Amino acid sequence: MGQTLTIALSKGRILEDTLPLLASAGIEPAEDPDASRRLVLPTNRAEVQLVIVRATDVPTYVAHGGADLGVAGKDTLLEHGGAGLYEPLDLGIARCRLMVAGYPGTTERLRRPRVATKFVNISRRYFAEQGRQAELIKLYGSMELAPIVGLADLIVDLVDTGNTLRANGLEPLATIAPISARLVVNRAAMKMKHRLIEPVTRALGEAVNERDRSTVE
Ligand code: ATP
Ligand code: PRP
Repeated sequence: MGQTLTIALSKGRILEDTLPLLASAGIEPAEDPDASRRLVLPTNRAEVQLVIVRATDVPTYVAHGGADLGVAGKDTLLEHGGAGLYEPLDLGIARCRLMVAGYPGTTERLRRPRVATKFVNISRRYFAEQGRQAELIKLYGSMELAPIVGLADLIVDLVDTGNTLRANGLEPLATIAPISARLVVNRAAMKMKHRLIEPVTRALGEAVNERDRSTVE
């Protein structure tokens, strides 16, 4: 029996932005993943299937070989640590920034700030690199609420337009990293399934270049 290539995607913005790139690379799901409740979706290519997982779980699925390829935000990759993964391609989609934010005038230099975030590993590293102690408070969403109710002095969260911060009276204080979605590949699969993975990686790279050329023109 021939080899199968499994690609992990998450619903929402990653899926929306990745499907056109996959289509340019000649891969189209057999049914609309947003409408379907199925978690394993065949594609127009008999040897390629998609699996639909939570955005934060993509690195885990790919690192452990539950999928050969995946598309994950750089934020989730930094938080995961990236062990067991190659990251051959920046897809340039789902762009935003990982930022420290708080009330205007909150000194970013508080001696031991309480920081609410879903990115505890990234935040721990960021404050440690600055030689600062921070008390990290793990949340799973609605980080912007934490300073409002006095749960935290600062938050570490994704910022795109800044509308969510503004709507809650907060402002960006420092950028930790620019973020975009990346193609990730399981390290063992890169060797074992090179024949299948190499053309997909190359076609996606060409689709990204083509898209970027047409948006510049
Ligand atoms: P999960 O469902 O696992 O909690 P999530 O709800 O954060 O994840 P999405 O909101 O779909 O999932 O975000 C997926 C990825 O899109 C993030 O990891 C990040 O890289 C990027 N992203 C998140 N928010 C924005 C935004 N406002 N603008 C642009 N890109 C974003
Ligand atoms: C993300 C992020 C911020 C918001 C930033 O949330 O966690 O709250 O986007 O975008 P903005 O700067 O353009 O306002 P998302 O919309 O994904 O909601 P969720 O993570 O709570 O699902």
